[in-house]
Amino acid sequence: MKGVILAGGLGSRLNPLTSITNKHLLPVYDKPMIYYPIEALVRAGIDDILLVTGGNNAGDFLRLLGNGAEFGLKHLNYTYQHGEGGIADALGLAEHFADDKKLCVILGDNILERNIIQAVSDFEKQEEGAKILLKEVHDPERFGVAEISEGKVLSIEEKPKKPKSNLAVIGIYFYDRQVFELIHGLEPSARGELEITDVNNMYIERGQMTYEVLKGWWTDAGTFESLHRASNLVAEGGANKVDA
Ligand code: DAU
Repeated sequence: MKGVILAGGLGSRLNPLTSITNKHLLPVYDKPMIYYPIEALVRAGIDDILLVTGGNNAGDFLRLLGNGAEFGLKHLNYTYQHGEGGIADALGLAEHFADDKKLCVILGDNILERNIIQAVSDFEKQEEGAKILLKEVHDPERFGVAEISEGKVLSIEEKPKKPKSNLAVIGIYFYDRQVFELIHGLEPSARGELEITDVNNMYIERGQMTYEVLKGWWTDAGTFESLHRASNLVAEGGANKVDA
């Protein structure tokens, strides 16, 4: 399986922190934010990785990460997203890299307590389709929210005013090769972005979406509150821990 890290976008919710640097280079406790999704993939055994970046200061990723030697990688692939066309737009740039292989996609501002090795292994065995990871949260209206019944995902709503559950769709997605055909058919949402939630709903309509509920804490780090929380959580116990 190959890994794709999406670290584009302008991070405008974190202005002025992001006015002179890229959101994913900001510190989360003792490391730049981008270290955590790279570690999450590497510790799950994924070492063929594409980093999609964008916005300002994209060259700083290269200076910081180089070929990924610090993470035990021999090589790191990079590409650049112009503008802020949405998560699915950024993922579309991975089509050539994917080369028909299965993908584990992680958002550059998502940080987890535990290793995702089990989910990776489960998706390796899944014949086709996609997998999402869910986590109970107290503020579901900030996220994609999944409606679940009898072990199946019925639908996902992006930032609903009245969430149908408290299960947030976290920013780690598993896809087969169909994902690029689905992205090609997307129309921009009301906020002008190609939405990953629309892609996920198309997999649900095809009856090809599975899910797992995540163990351990998870947070994004794209708002002042969540960035602060992320630093505290990492300081208290570290991230991407391997299960005992
Ligand atoms: O964190 C999980 C949530 O992430 C999901 O529950 C939502 O369904 C999903 O839409 C997303 O919501 P956010 O509003 O938090 O996404 P945000 O715009 O903050 O983007 C998250 C990351 O995705 C960002 O750190 C980098 C990447 N991204 C985003 C955009 C808009 C890109 O690479 N390119 C983009 O154009």
